[in-house]
Amino acid sequence: MKRETVIVLDFGGQYNQLIARRVRECNVYCEIYSYKTDFEKIKAAEPKGIIFTGGPNSCYLPDAPTYTKEIFELGVPVLGICYGAQVMMQLLGGKVEKAPVREYGKIEVTVDQSSLLFQDVSEKTICWMSHNDYISSLAPGFMASAHTDNCPYAAMEHTKKKLYATQFHPEVLHTKEGQKMLSNFVFRVCGCAGDWKMDSFVQQSIAAIREKVGNGKVLCALSGGVDSSVAAVMMAKAVGEQLTCVFVDHGLLRKNEGDEVEAVFGPNGPYHLNFIRVNAQERFYSKLKGAEEPEHKRKIIGEEFIRVFEEEAKKIGKVDFLVQGTIYPDIVESGVGGESAVIKSHHNVGGLPDFVDFKEIIEPLRDLFKDEVRKAGLELGIPDYLVYRQPFPGPGLGIRIVGEVTAEKVKMVQDADAIWREEIAKAGWDKKINQYFAALTNMKSVGVMGDERTYDYAVALRAVTTTDFMTAESAEVPWEVIGRVTSRIVNEVKHVNRVLYDCTGKPPATIEFE
Ligand code: XMP
Repeated sequence: MKRETVIVLDFGGQYNQLIARRVRECNVYCEIYSYKTDFEKIKAAEPKGIIFTGGPNSCYLPDAPTYTKEIFELGVPVLGICYGAQVMMQLLGGKVEKAPVREYGKIEVTVDQSSLLFQDVSEKTICWMSHNDYISSLAPGFMASAHTDNCPYAAMEHTKKKLYATQFHPEVLHTKEGQKMLSNFVFRVCGCAGDWKMDSFVQQSIAAIREKVGNGKVLCALSGGVDSSVAAVMMAKAVGEQLTCVFVDHGLLRKNEGDEVEAVFGPNGPYHLNFIRVNAQERFYSKLKGAEEPEHKRKIIGEEFIRVFEEEAKKIGKVDFLVQGTIYPDIVESGVGGESAVIKSHHNVGGLPDFVDFKEIIEPLRDLFKDEVRKAGLELGIPDYLVYRQPFPGPGLGIRIVGEVTAEKVKMVQDADAIWREEIAKAGWDKKINQYFAALTNMKSVGVMGDERTYDYAVALRAVTTTDFMTAESAEVPWEVIGRVTSRIVNEVKHVNRVLYDCTGKPPATIEFE
């Protein structure tokens, strides 16, 4: 039986993997291809539907990413999103121009509820817009199906040809009824059945890993975070004793975290991972000395990680494979996978040194989104409390200390973060927010403590709600909790005299500070 597939054609926008994720949420298998992919290949995949993504370009400029017009003649439904909508209009004879007013942010859109795309969607609905260009005239045969005050064609369609387009982004959570619109496209327009389930992913992966590894030795980078834990346990199930897990304590972990990781994954825990802990704190601090720029710090940390592994690998003899817990969003945001611009190079993707002393890197989770990784973790029998841990970046506190990292600053941010986490949990807010931590800003300011003038650091508290970590909202943690945490931090953490709360969503900020 042929598997139903929706293809996302990537024109280089930031949210492209999100579209795939939303489609998979409908239990429809979804693959992403670059806009450079040969038309024959797309045709051969026999997709049930095609989605053109957003992108950073202006489609009327020379060399802007585009596609062959033939794609609209396949009889396969196409949905164009933002830049994708503009490309569709331009190719089919409409007009795209620079907009007199740039639209950015949450905007009320009035939709035509008789459109298949807007079935069960409110007539006036909040959508996320981010565009400098606009569609000034529709291609022949199209009709407008949504508008805003500044945008006459916020959505349009050619129902007979099954071509649909939206100027806004239905895939981001800021678009309130976006998932409904995408599922309308997938089910009502494309006619998908929605019978693809993730449950066989784990078994298939285990089998594939076993075959690939053969008798080879495998070294796994275990950080104790959700991704690397799931990757490690999956590897252990696949290759058993051939696996060695190395846990590098880079001195950039949360307070007491090194010991906690060892307690779960070490020899006294429930797993058999051949666990080795390397205490490399001083090594990392000295490499980071003087480094201030976030990307530079990430590169240093990533590179040092690899060096430590190489040394460990040498100690345990020949190693063939290195496992990493890289997941889909890491790849997108590093600009490695699709066409996206680099926002941050995740240390485990963009920062690899040129020379790596292993035959190959295995990334068993590279196609999965965070919530899919958690599902895989549960399938593997990893307990809930580990599977639902909040994410922690590979470069650790290195990117939660703005500017230069020192041992003293690490201690400050660890202590402040421990207080924040403790109070959040006490207040029962740990289940309501998806990621929360303290960061140390690079700002020193004047304060007064017990009649004395101080000139100390400001800690920033961050708490966000998100499901995909690609967009997020700042959480409305009660003032009472923030107040309690503030007074504890300034009292208990030396050299901190100010506490700030970060109210910014993503976009325009990111979740981490660097
Ligand atoms: P941002 O800050 O990009 O974060 O909004 C999105 C999610 O990714 C995590 N993050 C990282 N994870 N290496 C990682 O393994 C990194 O360099 C990195 N930077 C951010 C972040 O904690 C959040 O969950």
